[in-house]
Amino acid sequence: MCGIIGYIGNRNVLSLLIDGLKKLEYRGYDSAGVAYFSDGNLEVRRAPGRLSALEAILPAQAPKGSAGIGHTRWATHGRPTEENAHPHSAGPFSVVHNGIIENHISLKKDLQAKGHTFVSDTDTEVITRLIDQLCREGLSIEEALQRCVEQIRGSFAICLLSEEEPDRLIAVRSGCPLVLGVGESESFVASDIPAFLSHTREIIFMEDGEIALLSPDGIEIHDLKGKKIVKPSQQISWDPVMAEKGGYRHFMQKEIHEQPRAITDTLRGRVDEESGNAILGDQDWDHGNGLNCRRAVFIGCGTSWHAALVGKFLFEGIAKLPVEVDIASEFRYRDPHLSPDDWVIGISQSGETADTLAAMKEARNKKAPTLSICNVVGSSISRETDSVLYTHAGPEISVASTKAFTTQLTALTLLSINLGRRRGVLSEEEGKQLLHHLILLPKQVESLLEGENKIKEIANRYFRHRDFLFLGRSLLYPVALEGALKLKEVSYIHAEGYPAGEMKHGPIALIDEEMPVVIMAPKDAVYEKTVSNIMEVKSRGGIIIALVEEEDHDLAEVADEVIPVPKTLPCLSPILSTIPLQLLAYHIAVQLGSDVDQPRNLAKSVTVE
Ligand code: AGP
Repeated sequence: MCGIIGYIGNRNVLSLLIDGLKKLEYRGYDSAGVAYFSDGNLEVRRAPGRLSALEAILPAQAPKGSAGIGHTRWATHGRPTEENAHPHSAGPFSVVHNGIIENHISLKKDLQAKGHTFVSDTDTEVITRLIDQLCREGLSIEEALQRCVEQIRGSFAICLLSEEEPDRLIAVRSGCPLVLGVGESESFVASDIPAFLSHTREIIFMEDGEIALLSPDGIEIHDLKGKKIVKPSQQISWDPVMAEKGGYRHFMQKEIHEQPRAITDTLRGRVDEESGNAILGDQDWDHGNGLNCRRAVFIGCGTSWHAALVGKFLFEGIAKLPVEVDIASEFRYRDPHLSPDDWVIGISQSGETADTLAAMKEARNKKAPTLSICNVVGSSISRETDSVLYTHAGPEISVASTKAFTTQLTALTLLSINLGRRRGVLSEEEGKQLLHHLILLPKQVESLLEGENKIKEIANRYFRHRDFLFLGRSLLYPVALEGALKLKEVSYIHAEGYPAGEMKHGPIALIDEEMPVVIMAPKDAVYEKTVSNIMEVKSRGGIIIALVEEEDHDLAEVADEVIPVPKTLPCLSPILSTIPLQLLAYHIAVQLGSDVDQPRNLAKSVTVE
C-alpha cells in the first residue's frame, strides 16, 4: 500500500501535502515525494527514507502555486531509492500511484519501442509514459487516462498533474481506494480520509472506474466513457486519530481485517489457472530456484517460524521435497550441515530480524542457494539472499503479526505449487485444484471476519483466565503455536501451543475447570483423533473452545464454544483457522485494557540478537 494526496486551492500547497503524507505514513514509509506548481512550473522533489528526508529538501519559501500531489511509498516493484520514488514524470505530466500494474513489463516494452527511455524500476513509470505517449498521439488528458485504464491490468489509484493545466488535478480509481474532500474554493484527494480530515469533513468516496477532475471551483466525476456522474457527499464525524486506523480501534484489528485484500494482493498476477501453475515472475526471481536441491531448510523467528513450520507441510505435501525447519537463533549456532544442494529459505515480515539475517548469512557462507520470503521491498534480508518472493500485505504496524502470517502462508503455497510443477511431481489438474481453492480464500476470510462479534463474546467470557492451551494436529499444530503466541503477546496471559496428540504426554496434567483449551478440529484425516483429544479434555473438566468446519454439528454438544470455519483443502486450513485465533487474542487483550498495538517489552522488528 502507498499513501497518495492531492490538493488544489489557495493554501500553502507544500505544507498541506507534507501534513497529509504524515497522516498516511502508516501506509508505507520507504520513500516519499511531491510535485507542485511554483511560478507556473511543475516542480518535483523526491527522497528515499522517511518523510523527514523529503522535508529536508523542500524550499523554505512557500511556492506560488495552487496545486500539488504527494506520495509516501510502500515498494512493490523496485527498491526504495530516489529514482523509484513517486511522483514519476514524463513530458508535462507527473503521476503518483498506489497499487500494482501486473502487465507493466509488456507495456514498458511497447513504450520503449516508441522511444521512451525508462529511468526507474517501477511499474508506475509505465503509467506516466503511457499517458504522455497517448497525448502525443493527439488524445486529451482525460481521453488518455481512459485509454490508459483500459490497457492497464491490476489495481491502481492514480493522481496526475500536467504542467500545461495548472488549474486541474485528475484522479482515477481502479481497485485501490481514493477519497475526495470538498472544501471552500479548494479540493482534496487522498488514499485515506486522515490526509485531509483536518481541512474538511465533506467527503466523496470514489468507486472503481471513476475519474475525478478537481479544481478550486469543485470536483467533477466522470465514468470511463467521459459521462458525468453525480455522487452525494458525506459528512465524516471520525476524530483524526481514529481515522488513521480506518475507523478501527487498533492497527491490529485493522490489519486483521485487511487480510482479504492482503491475500488477494499476494496472489495477484501469480495465479495461472490455465496451466495450473503459480507464476513467480516478479523481481529478483531466479526460475532455477530450488529445482535441483535435495532438501529445503526453512528459517524464521516467532510468527515467521510458525509459517516455516506450515511451509514444511506444504513443500513436502505439494512439491515432494524434504524440508528441515529451524528457529533462526538456533540455526546459526549449531554449525548446520549445508551444501549447495540445500535451498535455504528465510521467512521474515520486516526483513530486518537480526537472527534471521545472521542465519541467512551463515547459509551463504556455506554456499547454499538462498531465498527470502519477505514483506518489505529492499529490506536487508531481500539484499542478503539470491532471490526474493515478496508478500504484498502492505505495512504491518501492529507489533503482533497477523496479515504478514497469512500472506506468508499464501506465498509458501504459491511457491510449493510452482516448485511441484517444475519438479514434475504436481500435475496440471492438481495445480488447478489448489489454485482454485487459493483464490477462494479472501472471500472465506471475509466470512470469518463477519463472525467477529461472536468471537468477541467468547473473549468476554474467558478473558479473566490466566492459562490457555491451544491444540492442533498436523499443519494446524503451527497454528496452535501461532494462536498461543498472539494471546501471549497482546494480553500477557500464559498460553501454550501443543500438538493435540502430545497433550496426553504431560500437558493434560494442566487441564481443570479453569483451563480454556482452544482446539482446531477440521474434518481432515486426523479428525477422529482430534475428537478423542477433545473428549480427554472434557473428561477432566476443561473448557473446550473448538474451531470446527461449518456444517459439523457433532461437536456442538461436546464443546463449550464452537467457532465455525469454512471448508477448504487441508493444506489451506492454516490460513483460515488463524483468523478466529487472531480475533480471540485481540478481543481478550482489549477486555484487559492492554496496549494492543505496542505490547510491553516487545518491538515490531527485533534487530538485535
Ligand atoms: C509476531 O507476532 C511477533 N511480532 C514476532 O514473533 C515476529 O514474528 C518475529 O519477531 C519475526 O519478525 P519478522 O517476521 O519481521 O522476521
